[in-house]
Amino acid sequence: MTENTPEMDSVADRARLTSGADTWHTEEAAGTLPRLMLSDGPHGIRQQREGGDALGIGDSVPATCFPPAVALGSTWNCELVQRVGAALGEEARAQGVHVLLGPGMNIKRSPLGGRNFEYISEDPHVTGEIASAMVDGIQSQGVAATPKHFAVNNQESDRMRVSADLDEQTLREIYLNAFETVVRDARPWALMSAYNRINGDFASAADWLLTGVLRREWGFDGIVMSDWGAVADRVASLHAGLDLEMPPSGTDDQIADAVRDGALEESFLDATVERLRLLAERVALERTQGYDADAHHAIAREAATESIVLLRNDGILPLDADRLERIAVIGEFAAVPRFQGGGSSRVVPTRLTPALDAIRATIADRAEVTYAPGFGAEGEDSLIAAAVETVRVADVALVFLGLPDHAESEGFDRTDLDLPFAQLRLLQAVTETGVPTVVVLSNGGVVSVSDWHQSVAALVEGWLLGQAGGEAMADVLFGTGAPSGRLTETIPLQLSDTPSYRTFPGGAGHVRYGEGLFVGYRHYDSADVEVAYPFGHGLTYTSFAYEDLEVARVEGGGCRVSFTVRNTGERAGSEVAQVYVGRDDARKDRPIHELRAFVKVHLKPGESARVERVLPSRAFAEWDLSHDRWNVTGGARLIEVGGSSRDIRLSTSVDVEGDGFVNELSPWSTIAEWRAHPVGGEMLTKLMGGFGAGVADRAPELLQMVLQIPLIKLTSWGIGLTVENVEVMAATANGDRSE
Ligand code: BGC
Repeated sequence: MTENTPEMDSVADRARLTSGADTWHTEEAAGTLPRLMLSDGPHGIRQQREGGDALGIGDSVPATCFPPAVALGSTWNCELVQRVGAALGEEARAQGVHVLLGPGMNIKRSPLGGRNFEYISEDPHVTGEIASAMVDGIQSQGVAATPKHFAVNNQESDRMRVSADLDEQTLREIYLNAFETVVRDARPWALMSAYNRINGDFASAADWLLTGVLRREWGFDGIVMSDWGAVADRVASLHAGLDLEMPPSGTDDQIADAVRDGALEESFLDATVERLRLLAERVALERTQGYDADAHHAIAREAATESIVLLRNDGILPLDADRLERIAVIGEFAAVPRFQGGGSSRVVPTRLTPALDAIRATIADRAEVTYAPGFGAEGEDSLIAAAVETVRVADVALVFLGLPDHAESEGFDRTDLDLPFAQLRLLQAVTETGVPTVVVLSNGGVVSVSDWHQSVAALVEGWLLGQAGGEAMADVLFGTGAPSGRLTETIPLQLSDTPSYRTFPGGAGHVRYGEGLFVGYRHYDSADVEVAYPFGHGLTYTSFAYEDLEVARVEGGGCRVSFTVRNTGERAGSEVAQVYVGRDDARKDRPIHELRAFVKVHLKPGESARVERVLPSRAFAEWDLSHDRWNVTGGARLIEVGGSSRDIRLSTSVDVEGDGFVNELSPWSTIAEWRAHPVGGEMLTKLMGGFGAGVADRAPELLQMVLQIPLIKLTSWGIGLTVENVEVMAATANGDRSE
C-alpha cells in the first residue's frame, strides 16, 4: 500500500477533525460533520468579528453582558441562573454559535486568584449547583455548554505549566466534586481541559482524568476540548481522551502517523470522531433571527440585583430619597463602571448605564445628586479635597470603591487583598467629615475591609455586575430592589489568615495544596479563625426566623431535612437557607462542617415556608484514600441549618447508616483492623484467647501499642502463629465476607 491508498487518506481525514479549522471553528467533513462555531463566554457571547485578530478581545459583536460568575454565584438562585443560561444560549443561536465556552467553575482556593471573578465559589456544592443550572439553561437552547477548566486550575501564575500537587482525597472532595455534579446532573455536551498539570501530568493529557474519572466513572459522553493552546503532545492527549485541540497547531499529521505506525490504536481516533459527530447531532445548527435585547437586559438586571451582597448596614439602607436633600456620589466607579473582568471573557455590552446615571434616574428631582470622582488619573490630593467638599454639604455619601482593571484579570494573580491606597485615603477623608457613608464595592476577587468597615454606615459588595449593574445597584440602595445575595466565599480579615497563604501560588513549577480539604470556610470554621464576613453571609432589609427542624432517614442511606423559614420583618425579602453537615465526633482531619444543600426562599412580611431537602448518602461520604472509593462510615452526624456558615440557627444529630463496606484484610492489616472486621475479629479473638482482655486490664498502654501492629509481625512473637496461618486467616476472612 502506498501513502495515498484510500485507507490512509481516511486516517488523515479523520485526524484532521481532531483540531479546529481555526481559532473559533471545528473542521467539517463533507456530508458527515458540519463546521461548528465556538465562542467565549461564560457571561456573554464574545463572538469575534470576521477578520479580527486571533483572540478578538475587545472587538467582538455586542452581546448582553450578564453578571460574571462571582456575582451569579452570589445569587444562590439556580432558577435565575438557568434563565441567564437560556438567554446566553439564545444569543449564541442568534450569532450562529454552537458551542459556548463556559461556565467557568474552578474552586477559589485563594482570594488572590486572578480569575476568581470567573469562578463561582470556594465551595464545591454551591459551585456544582450553580454551574449545573447554567449548563441546563445554555443547552436548553440547543447550544453546547463547556464547563471549564478541568481540572485543578486554581491560579493564573504559571498556569500553562504549573503542577498542582494534591492528595487524591482533596482532589475528589474539593476540586473534582463540582465537575462531577455537573457531569452527572446537567450532562454537558462538551468540557474544556485545563492548561496546568496535576501531580505532574498535564490535565490535557491525563488518561486517568479524561477517560478514567470523567468517562468511565462519571459517564461523560461529550467531547473534551483543550484550553487554548494547552496541548503539549497531540498523540498523548488524544490517547488520554482529549478530542479537540484548540486552536489548531497544524500537527494533525502526528495523529495520522501514530495511527499508521501503530503507536495509536485506530479505535481511539474513531471514538473521538464519533464523539464529534454526536456533538454535531446534539447542537441546533440553524441560526435564529436575533433576540430580544431589552428582555435580556432585564434578566441581566434581575440577576445583578440578586447578586449584590449587603455586608453591613446600621439601618441607613435602603435610602429614603424623600428624606434626603443632597446625596453625594463619590468614586470614579460610579461614573465609569467596572462591570466585568479582563481576559478572554470580556464582552462588548449592548448597553451600559453607570450607577451615577441610574441613581439620578431613580431619584428624579426628589433630591440633589452631586458627584466627585475622588480618585483617578488627576492629582490625588486635589481629587480628595474636591470629594470632601462635595460630601460636607450632603446628607449621605455613597462611595464607590473597588479594584481597577489592571489589578485583577485572567493571566495573573493578585499579591494582596488591599484596595488601592488612594481610595483608602479618600475613604478616610470622607468618613472624617462625619457624613454617613455607604461604601459600594466593585471587585472580582475579595478585598480586605477589616481596617475600615466599622467606620462606615453600610457596606455593599457589588462584585462585577455586568451591564445592568448600575441600575441594579440603584434599585438596592433606594429599596426598589431588595439585596438578596450571599457570599460564596469568605472575606478574611487578612491575607495571612487564608489557608493557602504559605503555598499559593507555589514556585519552581509546583504548587502544593498543603491545606488539603481545608479550603475557605472549611478552614476558618474548623480552626476558629475570626473573619470579616463568613461564607454564606448577606443581610437583607428584613429578618428571618428558622423553626421546627426535622430530620428523617430515607432509603439509600440519605436523610430528609425539613424546616420552616419565616419572614419576621416588615419588608419582603429572600433568605438563603443553608444546610451543613457536621460531625459529632472530634475528628480533626475533617472540616467541622460542609455545605450540602441550600434553598432560596422569597417571603412577604409575616409569611413562612416549609423547606425540604433530601441529602443523598453521598452528603455523608468521604473519599477513602486506602481503597480509592467514596466511603460512608456509619455514626452520628450534625445537621445544621442557618443563614451562613457562622449563623447556624437550628441543629440536630442524626445517626447515619454506613454503606456496609468492609475492608479486605491482609497479613499486613493491623490488630485494630482485624478487630474491626466482622469475620477477622472473631478469628483473632479465638486465636489470641484472653490475651487482649488480660493486657487491657494490666497495661492499657500496651494494648494501644499492640493495636497498631500488623498481624504478620506477631509471627515472630513465639505464640505459635505462622506466616501461613496469617495468610489463610486473611483469605478466609475475605472469602467469608463475599458470601
Ligand atoms: C482561557 C479559556 C478561554 C479560551 C478561549 C483561554 O486562554 O483560559 O477560558 O475559553 O482562552 O478564549
